[in-house]
Amino acid sequence: MTGAMAGAMTAGAMPAGAISGSARPDGELPVAGTGHVSGRPRRVTILGSTGSIGQSTVDLLLRNRDAFTVEALTANRNTALLAEQALALGARFAAVADPADYQALKEALAGSGIEVACGSAALVEAAERPADWVMAGIVGAAGLEPTLAAVRQGRIVAFANKEVLVCAGSLFMREVAAHGATLLPVDSEHNAIWQCFDFTRVEGIETITLTCSGGPFREHSIEHMREATPAQAVAHPTWRMGAKISVDSATLMNKGLELIEAHHLFQLAPERIDIVVHPQSIIHGMVTYCDGSVLAHLGSPDMRTPIAYALGWPGRTAAPTKRLDLAEIGRLTFEAPDERRFPALRLAREVLRGGAGGPTVFNAANETAVHAFLAGQIGFLDIAATVERTLERMPGGKLDSLDEVYNLDRAARDLAANLVAARGHSRVAQ
Ligand SMILES: NC(=O)c1ccc[n+]([C@@H]2O[C@H](COP(=O)([O-])OP(=O)(O)OC[C@H]3O[C@@H](n4cnc5c(N)ncnc54)[C@H](OP(=O)(O)O)[C@@H]3O)[C@@H](O)[C@H]2O)c1
Repeated sequence: MTGAMAGAMTAGAMPAGAISGSARPDGELPVAGTGHVSGRPRRVTILGSTGSIGQSTVDLLLRNRDAFTVEALTANRNTALLAEQALALGARFAAVADPADYQALKEALAGSGIEVACGSAALVEAAERPADWVMAGIVGAAGLEPTLAAVRQGRIVAFANKEVLVCAGSLFMREVAAHGATLLPVDSEHNAIWQCFDFTRVEGIETITLTCSGGPFREHSIEHMREATPAQAVAHPTWRMGAKISVDSATLMNKGLELIEAHHLFQLAPERIDIVVHPQSIIHGMVTYCDGSVLAHLGSPDMRTPIAYALGWPGRTAAPTKRLDLAEIGRLTFEAPDERRFPALRLAREVLRGGAGGPTVFNAANETAVHAFLAGQIGFLDIAATVERTLERMPGGKLDSLDEVYNLDRAARDLAANLVAARGHSRVAQ
């Protein structure tokens, strides 16, 4: 058991279940069931507020105005929505990643009193400003620096941005432990497992199970998937999400990323993490105990439920999600994932076995390939093929510092981009 997880169990002031480095230095904890911290509204920052996770978080905040105040919001380029959110929530600070969009944001918020900034330093500033709770909702490894900045302030971080943990793994968890930060899993599967996981008696836990919808191509042949378009790939059967994670769900890369995420969050060996395809997306995660008991978490496929749990933790915040009617649903089905048609899970298990750098390369190559697929440059099957080819040429190896993570991430992106651009690359997947 590593420090990050052991801390969760020994930190006297922490309610069991938070994935934490140590007791929070200020000893301030949310008051159960209200969102309030020591009698005042909880101060919230959202990194990536304009995305799917960000918008769901904003929706919950707007429904619970008395319990929360908003410090900072960030976006990449969507200044119109960022400004609208900042005004609606009364945020103090709004930052956009791309400096080209600074003027538009400034104009949209002129006269509001809301501070405006741009560039990567502004995202770090947003993450560092005083807050009780920070949503890590940026997509991709672009979220690493700002999420790390929040962690280094010892914040409670609601953790959606899984690529951060895949690309920086134990180095990231070491920062969580060193700075006494707290990670609250937001990914629906990890949030489900968090709710079922007895952190005070981990010796009784045998395995955890992440469920997987199977994505839009669950029943499609390889020949059919070869022709799949971006529009078909992002049309997820049960969840409404951003484009990148939707494509990841179609390739099952998302489940590979989640396997690596679960390994770090729950400090379990990869062979103790099972994946089962469950097309209805009603059971999100399960924990199997040594006496054969299985605790499962169920809910409608709506990210506002796991986000609300993290927002209200250690109590609960109301969410307006559709309540389950099991008689109406009728049947819950399960099947094993097909690693022949969807090689992502095999690749994820291989990189986890192979050492720290493998997941960094895996993630960077996948981000590059998904981007190329969405831009119409490669076919759907080329995504996994590009990741596999990149890993063959750049297996990863050991990583001793975050600088090495950034360098390897950049090198893997360059290599994957070359593979994408190479003539005849589309034949890779034939
Ligand atoms: N969506 C879900 O249901 C869901 C479920 C579980 C986990 N997650 C995870 O949560 C994260 C966010 O997913 P999402 O679906 O919400 O993504 P999304 O809809 O694409 O939103 C991404 C957010 O990040 C911002 N962003 C994009 N590139 C950026 C960059 N280079 N620098 C700074 N900010 C950037 C976007 O700003 P703009 O709007 O300006 O582009 C947006 O605010 C991902 O890691 C995903 O795997 C999502």
